Amino acid sequence: MQKDQTSNAPGSNHIQPFTPRINCICCIGAGYVGGPTCAVIALKCPEIQVLIVDKNQDRINAWNGETLPIYEPGLDEIVKHCRGRNLFFSTDIDAGIRDAQLIFISVNTPTKTYGIGKGRATDLQFVEAAARHIGQIATGKKIIVEKSTVPVKAAESIAKILYSNIDDNVSFEVLSNPEFLAEGTAINDLLQPDRVLIGGSQTDPGIEAINQLAWVYEHWVPPSKVLRTNVWSSELSKLASNAFLAQKVSSINAVSAICEATGADISDVAHSIGLDKRIGSKYLQASIGFGGSCFQKDVLSLTYICEALNLTEVADYWHQVVVMNNYQKKRFARKIIQCLFHTVSNKRIAIFGFTFKKDTADTRESSSIYVGKYLMDEEARLVVYDPKADKGQIISDLREVSSQDPQRVDRLVSVINDPYDAAKDAHAIVICTEWDEFKALDYEKIYNSMYKPAYIFDGRIILDHAALLRIGFHVEVVGKVMKKPVNDLTPF
Ligand code: UDX
Ligand code: ADP
Repeated sequence: MQKDQTSNAPGSNHIQPFTPRINCICCIGAGYVGGPTCAVIALKCPEIQVLIVDKNQDRINAWNGETLPIYEPGLDEIVKHCRGRNLFFSTDIDAGIRDAQLIFISVNTPTKTYGIGKGRATDLQFVEAAARHIGQIATGKKIIVEKSTVPVKAAESIAKILYSNIDDNVSFEVLSNPEFLAEGTAINDLLQPDRVLIGGSQTDPGIEAINQLAWVYEHWVPPSKVLRTNVWSSELSKLASNAFLAQKVSSINAVSAICEATGADISDVAHSIGLDKRIGSKYLQASIGFGGSCFQKDVLSLTYICEALNLTEVADYWHQVVVMNNYQKKRFARKIIQCLFHTVSNKRIAIFGFTFKKDTADTRESSSIYVGKYLMDEEARLVVYDPKADKGQIISDLREVSSQDPQRVDRLVSVINDPYDAAKDAHAIVICTEWDEFKALDYEKIYNSMYKPAYIFDGRIILDHAALLRIGFHVEVVGKVMKKPVNDLTPF
């Protein structure tokens, strides 16, 4: 839906056209959010120059090379189509800031690991550094767009930083435009978003800036899906969306524990719950717990904000979502240990899947890390296979949760690039990520190569359990009570 650049911004219900139109966008931060988002903008807005800048030279080299630094289905084609045309990756942050009329801040916002709010508050040091950088370099009129997920009122801080050291010929308008893409489906989420949210000040320049950004998205997003709010509503909507989704996963995981204790079947229960249109069927897949860089961080951030606002009951309510998630990871690991005769010491356990979900190479906050940790605490030998996760990253993730004894990772963990080799001589296979390829493996062959009794723990409910039981596996599944394998002669 290419728009006539001289016409009114479609859907702009406030003011008349702005001149000049945006013809250059800079994105600070070439990560999981900035990279795909701006690649899609470049694809859909061929008349706009899109400069993605990052301080990390290796990352920029990778964006400019054959193998992109992040794996995301559909991304390669878009980057290769637009790169060198109107999409450029560079470490020249100053030039990006100078040339663009609109600048996305898309840097990392992890949970604080130090000081006040440690373990809960969002660490805004990277956002602040990016804002200071813009403040030093920018001249003229700039629209600054906060794309990283940040606590409510962060835009206000960005504006204060920007305005702290400027002369008369510079002006900034700060917008909040949170990104709702999920990894693994990012390109589709960007091409067909449920909504685009733009928060800005309700002054004339603020409304003009909102309309400018809306105009960019309306190259391909129907105007009815572009929502305009004040900055704080926009910031809070992002945190609340992730908290709602995480809450749904924690709720179904809580029900999965009841299923295992009663003989109810989580797949039947989730199906039945999800048919109620008021609830909906998405995010009802019981699992070993949610992972990823967003859910836990954002729920903790929301909790911290509520505490700061003296809303103790509200903080406790949301915090329970994370408590439940931690319980689910631990409960799954305990089940493995209990089934393997209460000891996994020196037993070989094949971990299938290490990323936090399928179709990504991202392992940030993956539940596999914690399941791996609990098993290592019991001296299990882990053999990890994942189709996409980087071997060095897997080792470093496990080292990080073994800070008291990092050497034990060298002693207990190996990463293998073939699932059949990983399962050979193993006592158990543990499915941690729902990769499609795990469904198509030859489990008869795998069974024959394993120690007996051979166990399989399906933490994602993706395998054909009846077929596995027929082969002879002992099968344990989140949220289900399984029958014994056909060849099991034990009396209990
Ligand atoms: C999430 C939000 O979906 C997205 O809108 C936001 O922009 C960023 O955070 P992401 O973390 O990439 O996206 O992936 P998502 O698909 O939401 O999954 C998060 C975690 O929840 C994964 O570990 C996934 O396996 C788990 N999950 C999800 C479940 O365990 N069960 C479900 O039913 C859904
Ligand atoms: P996200 O998942 O939110 O996209 P990532 O960690 O994948 O987060 O990416 C954030 C990127 O931002 C990293 O590549 C990091 O190097 C970059 N970055 C952080 N601070 C700055 C800064 N001040 N200037 C330029 N790039 C930055």
